[in-house]
Amino acid sequence: MRIKGPARARGSLKLPGDKSISHRIAMLASIASGLSRVNGFASSADCQATLDCIRKLGIRVEDSGSGLVIHGEGLFGYHPTERPESIAQLNAGNSGSTMRMLSGLLAGQRFTSEITGDASLRRRPMARIIEPLSLMGARIDATEASFAPLTIHGRKLRAISYASPVASAQVKSCVLFAGLLADGRTVFSEPAPSRDHTELMLREFGTLVDGSSPGTLSIEARHELTPLDYQVPGDVSSAAFFIAAASILPDSELMLRDVGLNPTRTAFLDVLGELGASLRTQNHREQHSELVGDIVVSSAQLRSEPRGTLLSGGTIPNIIDEIPILAVVATQVEGRVEVRDAKELRIKESDRIQTVAGGIRSLGGEIEEFEDGFAITGPQRLTGGRVETRGDHRIAMAFAIAALIAEGTTEIIDAECATVSFPEFYESLTMLTGPDTVEPVP
Ligand code: S3P
Repeated sequence: MRIKGPARARGSLKLPGDKSISHRIAMLASIASGLSRVNGFASSADCQATLDCIRKLGIRVEDSGSGLVIHGEGLFGYHPTERPESIAQLNAGNSGSTMRMLSGLLAGQRFTSEITGDASLRRRPMARIIEPLSLMGARIDATEASFAPLTIHGRKLRAISYASPVASAQVKSCVLFAGLLADGRTVFSEPAPSRDHTELMLREFGTLVDGSSPGTLSIEARHELTPLDYQVPGDVSSAAFFIAAASILPDSELMLRDVGLNPTRTAFLDVLGELGASLRTQNHREQHSELVGDIVVSSAQLRSEPRGTLLSGGTIPNIIDEIPILAVVATQVEGRVEVRDAKELRIKESDRIQTVAGGIRSLGGEIEEFEDGFAITGPQRLTGGRVETRGDHRIAMAFAIAALIAEGTTEIIDAECATVSFPEFYESLTMLTGPDTVEPVP
């Protein structure tokens, strides 16, 4: 894709459904006892991978035109549809969420599952879920004990009390999902709070999740899930690219409608607010215990504290997916923005510290790289260049926005990987910035 800057962004947009919430609603509806209806399900390739997997597990999923109908078969109702019926063959594509969260449900079934993914996913660590699931009695074979393909030999599971060494909502969801199938009460804690969609949604399905002791969750096993009618809000992580665009491009104003504003996902908005962004949320309402609203954002001169802005510690899990676009914003902030304690970025869809640094340098910018983060001092003048995405959707979209602020034309290599989370991204970008900014490379 070739993108021409400088540009401005104006207009109104409804974002596609939230990716994190869509994975969870598909998985939980598939083990509920009966039929759930889901509107606004994410168009992302990752979430389609989750749907493909649950279909291969024998769950009927219909697209009614206005939404999905998922015929849940109960906690132990999965049955592989392809031969041999004793083994489910699943492919999670690029999606870490699909592989890690679904493994929790597969570990407690009465058959074996083989789950694989694309080259990027096969490089991402799975030991973080293999360890707790093994403690629960699961048997999982993996390449070098940590990498996909995983062979999950379904077993009767026992409840455990598990303190995760990483703050990860995927690990948390995996353990709680396995806990649903286990004997007894499973207890989970993590070093910092991660996004809480799983616990909110489990309660919506009628299960008993207790979060009364700070930092710890517990779930009662074998509780039947009551089917739901569910509306998925717009994805705030996808909105982040446009929020960034309107903030750093001159003469810009955007209205983003029906976006999920769950406080464990909106730290990016808080960070931008502290940098002086002109940003407000309105029309707040609660939908299935998730906060939803509209975001109005316009151009502003962004400034870091006189001594710079440091983002680290417990803030990191809540901005983890927005860090690539935050780096792009940082190039336009007056002062220094430093990100630390973010080593997790190295094991995302790409090594995001390396791909972000490479992208900024290829547009003529400067960035200091650390093992666990980076620092950027702005404002910097960016010029068109050639950006390697390494097949990482958030890198493609972050640098499409960087290209709008840069002078000249930027080529985003493998730009189509944006489909992983946001298939309509370039179309939306064209609608908001005008017909001459985005040009597909033949
Ligand atoms: C996600 C959790 C995060 C995030 C990912 C989606 C989720 O991953 O980066 O895009 O839906 O639970 P980790 O659990 O690895 O931090």
